[in-house]
Amino acid sequence: MKRKLVVGNWKMNGDRERNQILLREVLQGLPVGVECAICVPFPYLAQAESLLGGTSLGLGAQTLSEFDHGAHTGEVSGAMLADFSVRYVIVGHSERRALQGESDSLVARKALAALRAGLIPLVCIGETLAEREAGETENVLQRQLDALAEVLDADSIGRIAVAYEPVWAIGTGRAASVEQVQAVLSFVRAWLAGRVRDAGDVRILYGGSVKADSAQALFGLPDADGGLIGGASLEAPQFLEICEAAV
Ligand code: G3P
Repeated sequence: MKRKLVVGNWKMNGDRERNQILLREVLQGLPVGVECAICVPFPYLAQAESLLGGTSLGLGAQTLSEFDHGAHTGEVSGAMLADFSVRYVIVGHSERRALQGESDSLVARKALAALRAGLIPLVCIGETLAEREAGETENVLQRQLDALAEVLDADSIGRIAVAYEPVWAIGTGRAASVEQVQAVLSFVRAWLAGRVRDAGDVRILYGGSVKADSAQALFGLPDADGGLIGGASLEAPQFLEICEAAV
């Protein structure tokens, strides 16, 4: 049976001292029966790799280059991430789509680059508040998903995880309601079913203001396979409670 996956996205937070304290606390209380991981900023990959070695907490990164090597100053390739025992990489987070101008097709090429390096891309999709209020949610998600299918074949789509992160729920303390989340997750599942044989095996995560008190209801939804956790992943007790809720 597919275990749920809970991934902490540290975003641009942390320093060596705080990371060590946080990771030690998380490692002490990690539940079994759920897959947990953290996506750390690039400079802390080596530190996290050494603290996580031999534990069940997976290591992830927050983005990667679409290219494999060469003259791309400032970029980090999937192979470099794999060199630090990275298993997951977030691709197309809405903050990067908005602030770094990452397009749907670039996100798809990055997902492919991650797969080439043997990583699991956590491909983020989601609508803004204006798009939701305009009744555009499904159109936006369809566009973001279809862009993936332009670049990834069915086998590749079967190896990604999709993270639904409504932009208006990120860092706002206002998680989407369980009805809103399930409606989107089943839309994504149906999209996957149109492209891969075992759509039920592809993980679909929810992200956006998940807290210890909302996690259980969100993770209990029929199409929820876990979560992508921002702010709450920076506090060990809260992150652990969220992981526990996914068991
Ligand atoms: O990638 C996780 C994220 O964007 C959600 O952040 O702080 O609302 O849990 P947060």
